[in-house]
Amino acid sequence: MTPSTEDLLGRIKINGGVPAHVAVIMDGNGRWAKRRNLPRTAGHQAGMASVRECIEGAVEAGVEVLTLFAFSQENWQRPPEEIDALMGLLQEYVSKESAELKERGVSVKVLGELDRLTPAARAAVASIESQTAEGNALTLNICLSYGSRAELARAARLIATEVRDGTMRVEEIDEAAMARRLYTAGTPDPDLLIRTSGEHRLSNFLLWQIAYAEFHVTAVLWPDFTRRHLFEAILDFQRRDRRFGRVTAGS
Ligand code: FPP
Repeated sequence: MTPSTEDLLGRIKINGGVPAHVAVIMDGNGRWAKRRNLPRTAGHQAGMASVRECIEGAVEAGVEVLTLFAFSQENWQRPPEEIDALMGLLQEYVSKESAELKERGVSVKVLGELDRLTPAARAAVASIESQTAEGNALTLNICLSYGSRAELARAARLIATEVRDGTMRVEEIDEAAMARRLYTAGTPDPDLLIRTSGEHRLSNFLLWQIAYAEFHVTAVLWPDFTRRHLFEAILDFQRRDRRFGRVTAGS
């Protein structure tokens, strides 16, 4: 018999070792829409319910940080109508969900090159971040206008500027110094990276931070993703033998 979603959650709790940080590449909205003869934007709209499911499931499982890849720097090359629809969804998300996120203790941070957003989208970002700033049940990072290589280049620029200005010595440039200059500064690296729609690609997402993350690829398209799929991914993670380059005890 297929275990219920509650059973899966129960197993996660019994196993222990819940990933502190889960990152998700939400993929397959366009294909979901195409299969239904709907416009791509209908797929993004449907994907909003999965965002909610994923957040609720993360809180239930005891995940501390959830990072969602909502819009990449490469996505700026999509047709203007699709970009407008995605920005519209962001604003809709902020106006509809901020109060509930606050209620659930979710603190939202938006990571990426936000200068490229429209003033209205930037205002929505500022609003959701300030409304939810006190939350301590879950940190929700929404990556928007985000590209990992650009993030790394930005960190290099910040360091170079400090060295030029004499506030940092070359000898002080180490991994921790880099990590402190990424958008994710102060959060643990992802333990688990989930990608939907069956693609095995990183797509310029968190290249530095996922050095030791475990990958879980599911064939499910993002709009069909529910907390059950999140729980399955966490259970898969709990079966992994994480060695961080070392050997396991007894081997
Ligand atoms: C990938 O599917 C998904 C996106 C580019 C956008 C994800 C956005 C949402 C789920 C809604 C907005 C979310 C928030 C948090 C406000 P795709 O379009 O690349 O799908 P395809 O590969 O099937 O074409």
